[in-house]
Amino acid sequence: PSLSFQHIRLNNLIFYPYIVRETVLNLHKYEIRPDDVFLVTYPKAGTFWLAEIVYNIAKPKPPNEQVSRTETIPLLEFYSLDTLELYPSPRYFKTHLPYEMIGHNSQHRGKYIYLARNPRDVAVSYFHFLRSGVEFGWDGTWEEFFGYFIQGNVPFGSYFDHVLPWWNHRNDENVLFIKYEDMKKDLINNVNLIAEFLNFNLSREEAECVAQKSSFKAMKANPETNMDQWSESFKPGSSFMRKGIVGDWVNYFSEEQIEQFNQWYASYIEGTGLEFEWFS
Ligand code: PPS
Repeated sequence: PSLSFQHIRLNNLIFYPYIVRETVLNLHKYEIRPDDVFLVTYPKAGTFWLAEIVYNIAKPKPPNEQVSRTETIPLLEFYSLDTLELYPSPRYFKTHLPYEMIGHNSQHRGKYIYLARNPRDVAVSYFHFLRSGVEFGWDGTWEEFFGYFIQGNVPFGSYFDHVLPWWNHRNDENVLFIKYEDMKKDLINNVNLIAEFLNFNLSREEAECVAQKSSFKAMKANPETNMDQWSESFKPGSSFMRKGIVGDWVNYFSEEQIEQFNQWYASYIEGTGLEFEWFS
């Protein structure tokens, strides 16, 4: 069984229904500029959180005045190559594309920040997101979704196919690998890591200011970052800025699901050295 909205499947990967087939087919033609920066995440790992931090550090320029705050750091796979060309350098992109699909045949390399989140909380967040998005046309149960998630039968594929190639490249000089749980614990430290990686020198006050602006509370209250602008795309009562915590999975996983999850998890994680925190 699979989610009903998977009408774009390329390289065996499911895409969101609002991503245009042509755009995905053209991705291999994408030419990286040497100063491009990619914020790479599996869906629901904290993409917009990372983007807000980078926005406040780097203050990227939009291609024109009409471009909203969130589109100033566009989702790479959502826009045509022509549109992306209009963005002034240095460009910053969000992307959920897996490792092998991001510009590796380009002559330039760019920089990559990979943000990982523990897969139990990712699954719960993803379940809510897919249920609440009008265009997904999906209204399934948590039990159903749990099965899809473990099978990798969801947009952007299996969680571990996504995270492990980036984890294996975590020591490359153009890769910074960070975790959602660490950002929750010490945001300022992570703001500094991100700034240093992007060659910005922040004072203590500036780092504190970036952390303050990108806190869950501040982002939820800010109309430029809380996604209320997309309210018609979501069913009433749902919110993109849902809970923003570590450990919400305990409210969803049954004993049986924990056991099934642990087997699945162990089969991928053993020997990799990658670890997650499950509670705040
Ligand atoms: S998407 O649609 O894939 O781009 O979603 P993404 O932005 O990756 O993930 C959404 C989850 O991130 C939470 N979020 C935050 N957590 C902590 N602090 C801040 N500032 C923040 N901003 C967004 C958001 O609430 C979603 O997680 P859940 O668990 O559903 O609340």
